[in-house]
Amino acid sequence: MLKEKMADALNRQINEELYSAYLYLSMSAYFDSIGLKGFANWMMVQYKEEMDHAMKIYNYLLSQGESVKLLSLKEPPHKWDSPLHAFEETLKHEQHITQCINNLVDLAEELKDRPTYNFLQWYIDEQVEEEENDREIINELKLIGDSHNGLFMLDRELAQRKYVPLIQEKE
Ligand code: FEO
Repeated sequence: MLKEKMADALNRQINEELYSAYLYLSMSAYFDSIGLKGFANWMMVQYKEEMDHAMKIYNYLLSQGESVKLLSLKEPPHKWDSPLHAFEETLKHEQHITQCINNLVDLAEELKDRPTYNFLQWYIDEQVEEEENDREIINELKLIGDSHNGLFMLDRELAQRKYVPLIQEKE
């Protein structure tokens, strides 16, 4: 059993991860609609990874004998000014998620909840990687500027991204 405050905070994080999935699915549809299939693929993989992030917390709560309480999701935006704008918004969103994870870690420390503290370490590493990926793509998009050829090449590169399911081990 977890302290109620910790279980509630983890339930709210499931909602944050599910909203992330919803946002990236919306971005995938946006990229598809403007003919950037590689960008659409990248975001579709991101959507699936976010579902895994939510399910990892879902499974953790259940393994601790806690209830999973699914909350309502807000509506994500449907379009962006440009690929660069979409990725800048992605990075901003991931920085928000990093802050959420940091707050959860602080709470686990405050409550001396060692299992949850350990559980959250995976998310700390994951956030470093997510922000780094977004920054790299933002830098490439800035270098590309108005070059259609550059955008086409990046689209082909992003088409290579493959989804690797997270193994849902029983925590
Ligand atoms: Fe699950 Fe992109 O943070």
